[in-house]
Formats: sequence, C-alpha cells, structure tokens
Amino acid sequence: MKTKALVAIAASLVFCAGMLLPVFGQELKAIQLPEPKLNENKSLAQALKDRKTTRAYALDNLSEQTLSNLLWAAFGINRPDSGRRTAPSAKNWQEIEVYVATTTGMYLYDPKGNALVPIVAGDIRSLTYTQATFKDAPIHLVYVADLEKMGEDEEGSKLVLAGMDTGFVAENVYLYCACEGLNTGFRVTIDKEKLAQALHLRPTQRIMAAQSIGLPKSK
Ligand SMILES: Cc1cc2nc3c(=O)[nH]c(=O)nc-3n(C[C@H](O)[C@H](O)[C@H](O)COP(=O)(O)O)c2cc1C
Repeated sequence: MKTKALVAIAASLVFCAGMLLPVFGQELKAIQLPEPKLNENKSLAQALKDRKTTRAYALDNLSEQTLSNLLWAAFGINRPDSGRRTAPSAKNWQEIEVYVATTTGMYLYDPKGNALVPIVAGDIRSLTYTQATFKDAPIHLVYVADLEKMGEDEEGSKLVLAGMDTGFVAENVYLYCACEGLNTGFRVTIDKEKLAQALHLRPTQRIMAAQSIGLPKSK
C-alpha cells in the first residue's frame, strides 16, 4: 500500500514537472530543412533602404522553406569547398552557434546538414526575451559564442571578437528580412543565466544576443 502511494506521488510529480519544465532531450525530432532558395530578384539597395528593427509580430508560423532561407542567410555555408560562411568571423573561428526557438522546441542550426538539431522540447521562446513586446514572434534566434573554438586569447578579447561576429550574423538576418518583408528585432535584453541553464550550455558557451523574426502584425 505504502509503495503504491509512493509510486502515485512520484508519477504525479513527474507529470507536474513535465507540464512546467521543458523536456530536455529526445522527444523532439530533428528537422531536415529544404534546400535554401533565396529570392534573387531583390536588390541589396532596396534591402538597405528597408532594413529596420521591429518589435511587434503576427503569431503565424514561418514555413520550413523560409526558415531554411533565413538560417542560410544568417550563417549558412556559402562556399561548400572550404566550408566558409555567409558571415565573416575572426580567424574563421566560426564560433557563433545559432539556436532556434520555435513553438515546438529549441533547436541548434546545423549548417553542414542544413538541419535543426533538437535541444529542448517544448515552447521556451519566452526565455529568449525580457521585453514582452517580442512575445508573438514564431522564431527567435539565440546567438551563442563557443569560446572553446577561439584559441588561447584571454576571455575579454574573445568576447569582443564574438560580439563583432554576432553583429555580422544579425545584420545578415536584418537584410534577409528586409528582402522578404519579414519583421525582425535584435536584442541583448535576455535573462542569460536562466536561458543558459535551460539550454544546458557549457561554461565556455556564452549567450551573446537574440533576434526575433516573424510576419508583420496586421493593423
Ligand atoms: C548591440 C545592439 C543591442 C541592441 N539591444 C536591443 C535590446 O536589448 N532591445 C531592443 O528592443 N532593441 C535592441 N537593439 C535594437 C536597437 O534599439 C535598434 O537597432 C535601434 O533603435 C535603431 O533602430 P533600427 O534598427 O530600426 O535602425 C539593439 C541593437 C544593437 C545593435
């Protein structure tokens, strides 16, 4: 009887925890993205004219094609022979990892496989912002610098370079969104400790910034 009661209590605790906490691990499937296909008719001149920060979004999800295009523009491989990327990085360290928060879970962008690798199941988008105005965006990118990929410099120098490298990736996203009529907003207002914990980051992986993407909110 006692054992039965203990099992029931344990089961209800797991159930409650499951409801409240994101399930870390395997319940989330990897997503193979379609080949990126960017609209080549949009000019850089127009994208530069239209680039802007927006902090309100429609709730609509983006298609996997749009997500593929967006991530490739952000930090995809544009020279397959050498594995180099759409954004530059100091000493080609390529230390910026792009995490992708969606309504179903948090993924890591794998540029080689053109895929989303599952990290945390469940909608944890709210951990990527502290400004509520970003809440409706279906996609939030989180830029994480892996300092282990940056050689032997002191941490302060690595963080300065990682900040610059983050800016290049984010600007690619701004320009892609300007071309496609999508809203986007970059930010550093993040509870980094909470988010790092949820993502199970190593101490050498540092959250640099986040950026929301979504369709414009209709007036
Ligand atoms: C390094 C950096 C940090 C930023 N952090 C935030 C932020 O935490 N929250 C926010 O709402 N916007 C943030 N922004 C967006 C700026 O406020 C925005 O770029 C600026 O107001 C100019 O507007 P524009 O991008 O439309 O030209 C940040 C921009 C940069 C470059």
